[in-house]
Amino acid sequence: MPETIRIFDTTLRDGEQSPGFSMTPEEKLRLARPLEELGVDVLEAGFPIASEGDFSAVQAIARECRETRVAALARAVEADIRRAGDALRPAARPLLHTFIATSDIHLKHKLKRTRAQVVADTYTAVRLAREYAGEVEFSAEDATRSDREFLLEVLAAALEAGATVLNIPDTVGYSVPGEYAALIAHIRQHLPGVEKAILSVHCHDDLGLAVANSLAALAAGARQVECAVNGIGERAGNASLEEVVMALRVRGDALPFATGIRTEKLYPVSSQLAEITGIGVQPNKAIVGRNAFAHTAGIHQDGMLKSPLTYEIMTPSTVGIAASQLLLGKHSGRHALQARLELLGWLVPRERLDAVYQAFLQVADRQKLVDDVRLQEIALGAGLASLGQPAAAGAAGSGAGRR
Ligand code: KIV
Ligand code: ZN
Repeated sequence: MPETIRIFDTTLRDGEQSPGFSMTPEEKLRLARPLEELGVDVLEAGFPIASEGDFSAVQAIARECRETRVAALARAVEADIRRAGDALRPAARPLLHTFIATSDIHLKHKLKRTRAQVVADTYTAVRLAREYAGEVEFSAEDATRSDREFLLEVLAAALEAGATVLNIPDTVGYSVPGEYAALIAHIRQHLPGVEKAILSVHCHDDLGLAVANSLAALAAGARQVECAVNGIGERAGNASLEEVVMALRVRGDALPFATGIRTEKLYPVSSQLAEITGIGVQPNKAIVGRNAFAHTAGIHQDGMLKSPLTYEIMTPSTVGIAASQLLLGKHSGRHALQARLELLGWLVPRERLDAVYQAFLQVADRQKLVDDVRLQEIALGAGLASLGQPAAAGAAGSGAGRR
């Protein structure tokens, strides 16, 4: 049996605090339900000290979501922790998440605290957090730019105070996979008692490496990954939940880990987030982008018509997308055009195919994609005979299906 990785979703916290993604408590609650149904192990609902709205969002989600752990964020200061603890009171499975920065850059320029003070703050914060929740996660903010010996000292204080999860964030998306994996391995090797806690990773995407770094850390022994739907989060975002989960599912041979995620709900949840925030994903976004299962090049369409194995490494239904799409444009070939016209109910005799294709290319040269309405016009213009009822246009459709 592959080991199970905990999926810690931070869409409603790190994701929500990024520009353009802020949500009202009602919107957060609307998204919390599908996230729970998706099967996330931890749902970080907000940062209660930040605003009344975030406090009530965490409280409402804590009341509503009884299966998943509900987490609230707090700096390593008393007022934050008490506020987060109060918001979590109705939770069936509360997790209090407290953090402090450990890099010298943050200590000097932001916190203006000495290393000794940060160790003491960590211990006091985790102790207090344990009064509110059975599960306490400690995050060493900017861990990847921290001195390793000092990082170990802070993590040891968190462990001694009762932290059940130790999170090693790449806060500014600075690390690269080999280096991040080595850091996780170093902590596992040199932190006494590390086996008492779950090692967690939290990666930002400033260099486009958040998912790669997260996967490398799992291979090195981390057992929780923090991520967000559609990869939203501070600046360039967090590791994308759907990418991490599908990499583990599709590449189980290289990454022998399971998750509790119901992958067929990935696309619906991604769409709900886009609908609530009004911000969609780029068309070429892995897993959930409009083009993730769309093919226009003739060679690819020909391959897809022969077997989807040629150009798809997962079936669209695994992630909740109805069907692949063969979109018709100037790069498409005769084979795909014929298949589409026949699906639309037109008979395309072999000797007519070339003429129909030339008529199609004239349209395709003027517009990016040729939709079914234009195809019907081309078929009528070419005098093709109708077969009667069109076949269902779902599979390999030129526009039917997803959005
Ligand atoms: O990026 C970060 O370091 C964070 C912590 C609060 C976990 O978001
Ligand atoms: Zn973060």
